[in-house]
Amino acid sequence: MPFRAIAKRFGADLTISEMISANALVCNRKKTKKLYEKSAIETPYSVQLAGSDAATISEAVKILNDEDIDIIDLNAGCPAPKIARGGGGSALLKDPRLLGAIVAAIKKVSEKSTTSVKIRLGFDRNNGVELAKVCEDNGADFITIHGRTKTGGFTSPVDYEAIGEIKSKLKIPVIANGDIDSYEKTRSVFNATNADGVMIARAALGTPWIFAELKDQSVIDRASKRAAIIEHFDSAIAFYGAYGAIIFRKHLHRYSRSYEGAAAFRVLINKTSDITQMRDMIEKFFER
Ligand SMILES: Cc1cc2nc3c(=O)[nH]c(=O)nc-3n(C[C@H](O)[C@H](O)[C@H](O)COP(=O)(O)O)c2cc1C
Repeated sequence: MPFRAIAKRFGADLTISEMISANALVCNRKKTKKLYEKSAIETPYSVQLAGSDAATISEAVKILNDEDIDIIDLNAGCPAPKIARGGGGSALLKDPRLLGAIVAAIKKVSEKSTTSVKIRLGFDRNNGVELAKVCEDNGADFITIHGRTKTGGFTSPVDYEAIGEIKSKLKIPVIANGDIDSYEKTRSVFNATNADGVMIARAALGTPWIFAELKDQSVIDRASKRAAIIEHFDSAIAFYGAYGAIIFRKHLHRYSRSYEGAAAFRVLINKTSDITQMRDMIEKFFER
């Protein structure tokens, strides 16, 4: 949540929770709630559910009906064995009938304005048009497509042409995703796909100001970056407590990447868990 809030402040139009297991939400509502808690500025806000059982997902949607959120998104792309082994995430790409049934179940029970689905192009082959149509026919209001198959993991070339083909066959909006990391790349993806929007994941890590750069080619200066990093740190501590300092190490590894002395800074940060000390180190290191 602290990270999403920073992305939002730099212009992300829509922020989405991490993937929430429908089963975990139904079994342990209170504990799971923390995982999708939103910041006050996150409107519109989407919560992503993962699962493979329409009845359990319906129960999870009923819980989310009581929450101040705008969109319920279904994960049909996660390759993690923990999720896919149970038939959820990317396993849904192998079972279009079940995918459709789950989208229909969400649509039926949800009291939120929007239902969406995040898919890949297929499991081990591109049948993205079929999968996207199943989502549309069962009530999805928009879809996001990561332009790789599950087998393609996170490194195979992204097939923007395939995203474009899906876009040309659907009535609902399509968001293109995969390896988008600059203003120029965004323009070329819009040209190749005719998509209605783009989704950024990894390129925002360590550079949440990318949203400002993508929207209007803004150049974010180092003073503004420093202020954002400190704000991110403070809200991480407020949200996670002392553990926030441990979590924040990985963010600092990324934030410091383009700075002189980053390697030595990382070593220091890895030895620090004291909140005041870490904040002082951040203030000093990014002051240039
Ligand atoms: C560490 C990590 C966690 C991710 N978690 C999710 C997730 O919870 N739900 C989801 O739909 N995609 C998740 N993704 C996939 C991204 O949303 C995105 O589809 C993928 O990284 C490709 O886009 P990118 O090149 O902009 O990163 C995750 C990716 C990474 C690297």
